Amino acid sequence: MMAESLPRYDCDRSYQWNYDNPPSPPDVTVPDVPGNWTFCGHKVGSPLGIPAGPLLNGRWCLYYATLGFDVLTYKTVRSCQRGCYPLPNLQPIKCGQLDGTQKRVSPGDTMQGTWAVAFGMPSSDPSKWRRDVEWTRQQLPKRKTLSVSVVGTMREGWGINELASDYAQCAKWAVESGADCVETNFSCPNVNTCDGQLYLDVEQSAIVSEAVKSAVGGTPLIIKVGHFMEIEAIPRFLSAVNQRADAVSMTNSIASRVGVNDSELMFESQQRGICGRAILDASLAQVQTFADLIKEMNSKIEVIGLGGIETATDVSRYLDAGATACHVATHAMIDPACGIRIRQQLADHES
Ligand SMILES: Cc1cc2nc3c(=O)[nH]c(=O)nc-3n(C[C@H](O)[C@H](O)[C@H](O)COP(=O)(O)O)c2cc1C
Repeated sequence: MMAESLPRYDCDRSYQWNYDNPPSPPDVTVPDVPGNWTFCGHKVGSPLGIPAGPLLNGRWCLYYATLGFDVLTYKTVRSCQRGCYPLPNLQPIKCGQLDGTQKRVSPGDTMQGTWAVAFGMPSSDPSKWRRDVEWTRQQLPKRKTLSVSVVGTMREGWGINELASDYAQCAKWAVESGADCVETNFSCPNVNTCDGQLYLDVEQSAIVSEAVKSAVGGTPLIIKVGHFMEIEAIPRFLSAVNQRADAVSMTNSIASRVGVNDSELMFESQQRGICGRAILDASLAQVQTFADLIKEMNSKIEVIGLGGIETATDVSRYLDAGATACHVATHAMIDPACGIRIRQQLADHES
């Protein structure tokens, strides 16, 4: 198909990315993607989805649902209200592909596909997000899947069992509100407590996934992980969550400090999660490793691939690596119409 005949949708750019002013869902035609697609047992129209982050509430979910995304992940929520880190929350980064060995990356003046993400997983109060998840599920067409991302919130004096119960409480609330799937975030490089990098601790990952699985019953459970520097840790992690998780999603981000040099570091010299184009290669490699191991283990865990996706070619590479779904955060924020373009390109590849 000629580029000129691609469905066009020029985004309304008058909105700001906040809870109160999501754009209205446009009246736009979305191409079908050939094939039979499922997401954690739910029949969906394509492998495309939006991961946790961009969709702050139900109205954002509805907006992206009309733009060709079939799985909508409701932004990570907590068991209590939590504010956002101070600005900047999104800092453009100038770098090549990252593999996790980069201790520092340089800030850029303009967004070129990669940014440092620094929100600290804010959350509205549970009474608010629970009502909104319920409303969202009612409003979304049946063929769209609503996944709700949750995280536990560590309190003083708590250990891993209390944290696991807090994760489980949020997951239960999400299911009661109508979530089709629950995603537990085991990786947040911006949070300097054990709830931030849970996926790197095998025993704690097992305890939390067990508690959440018991709380959600038959509702599919997805575990979101970050980048593994040690490949040997992956089989141990998989053994810990096998039988509990229905899917694993990766890669949350690659953590690095941000600054023009080592003595002028942003974010109080703390690491931030680098998201977007620069994590594509490392994320693809990790998806391949997980998919191969899952096959060897004869496990049914699905792999959701994300990190740096911009085109249908990127989607095909993730699918070839063993992902069953491909989610887009950064590029979908920069170009909300990218889902329509990717769908058209996937359809063209098939014909
Ligand atoms: C603005 C923004 C907010 C995010 N917030 C969350 C979050 O709350 N929970 C989470 O699990 N991941 C969060 N992420 C990470 C994304 O889900 C995704 O893992 C990451 O951006 C890599 O995908 P991408 O390269 O397509 O951006 C956020 C990402 C962005 C860009």
